[in-house]
Amino acid sequence: MKVTQAGAALFAAGAIAAPSNTKPVKASPRQASGACASAVTLDASTNVFQNYKLHPNSFYRDEVNKAVEAITDASLKESAAKVADVGSFLWLDTIENIGKFDPAVADLPCENILGLVIYDLPGRDCAAKASNGELKVGELDRYKTEYIDPIVEKLKANPNSAFALLIEPDSLPNLVTNADLTTCQESKTGYEEGVAYALKSLDLPNVVMYIDAGHGGWLGWDDNLKPGAEELAKVYKNAGSPKQVRGFATNIAGWNAWDESPGEFSDASDAKYNSCQNEKIYVQKFGDALKTAGHPNHAIVDTGRNAVTGLREEWGNWCNVNGAGFGVRPTADTGDELADAFVWGKPGGESDGTSDESATRYDSFCGKPDAYKPSPEAGQWNQAYFEMLLKNANPAF
Ligand code: GLC
Repeated sequence: MKVTQAGAALFAAGAIAAPSNTKPVKASPRQASGACASAVTLDASTNVFQNYKLHPNSFYRDEVNKAVEAITDASLKESAAKVADVGSFLWLDTIENIGKFDPAVADLPCENILGLVIYDLPGRDCAAKASNGELKVGELDRYKTEYIDPIVEKLKANPNSAFALLIEPDSLPNLVTNADLTTCQESKTGYEEGVAYALKSLDLPNVVMYIDAGHGGWLGWDDNLKPGAEELAKVYKNAGSPKQVRGFATNIAGWNAWDESPGEFSDASDAKYNSCQNEKIYVQKFGDALKTAGHPNHAIVDTGRNAVTGLREEWGNWCNVNGAGFGVRPTADTGDELADAFVWGKPGGESDGTSDESATRYDSFCGKPDAYKPSPEAGQWNQAYFEMLLKNANPAF
């Protein structure tokens, strides 16, 4: 996704253009205007989503507001406008997109928490093509110094604001289940060292962290639960068991229902090998396995696009599922002890991958019969897909 740093530059320019009769202020870390009056300390042994609301960040609000302008139907327009107020995670998916941080924090009120996705490992997306990253295998130093370190600086410069970080979607799960792929073998060291470095460096008082653990149809298989939990725990311990790690994230950019019973794929011939037929069961079982492995085990679950089930031909189909709808809005009211919050992890309306077969990042999953077409490159806005999610939303907007 290409986004310029124009927002950040504008913000800085505003500071320079301050009225001349104000006393010169000593350069101090820039703080969000509505930030808390004093430093934020998040207690990662508690559910911080009970005290903070996931922030409807300005980047997604802008995307949605543009989408609203493009809609002509009056009633659809009205409901579309409401999506702008939904909290969601902001993806810092490239070095350049760290530029999204400052504008996003600029209007962050004390009672909100800004959700950020840390997503730029070397050799990213090793088992697929759609989200291959900018950093190549071997560029771990660049990941540390040009990506993680600058984010750490920004978090430190905003001590009076709260942040929830979602760490590297798909990365550790890929090491567990796609170890047969050369690309994932080559990525392994960089992923493990990179995630450990991220956890250690981002371990700040105003931050809580959740490490991605795929979803029930991925690490939920009987054979994957234990190795999956052990992989996360290994990296967490290598990072020195950072205090601000709260647990794991599931269903990020995924499609699984929270508590549908007996479960969307429970009729499949291999269902007997997977006891995690919905995310609620997965959170419980993977959470138990994490506990045994010595890793914090509370979860956030993406409900951004999981309103409609029965759409995928296979559980593993992940790309722009056709017929999907916006799901439950972010809330700490999950009714489940281990699930801290339902969140919108994937910003609904942004593509999972291009359907253009001639594109370098074309992945055949985005050409499957159940994938929406046409779809732009991963992260790019798809107006028609957004409108579909809205029409199929449950609860409705
Ligand atoms: C995909 C893209 C990434 C984007 C994210 C959220 O993973 O690769 O660029 O930010 O989805 O839409």
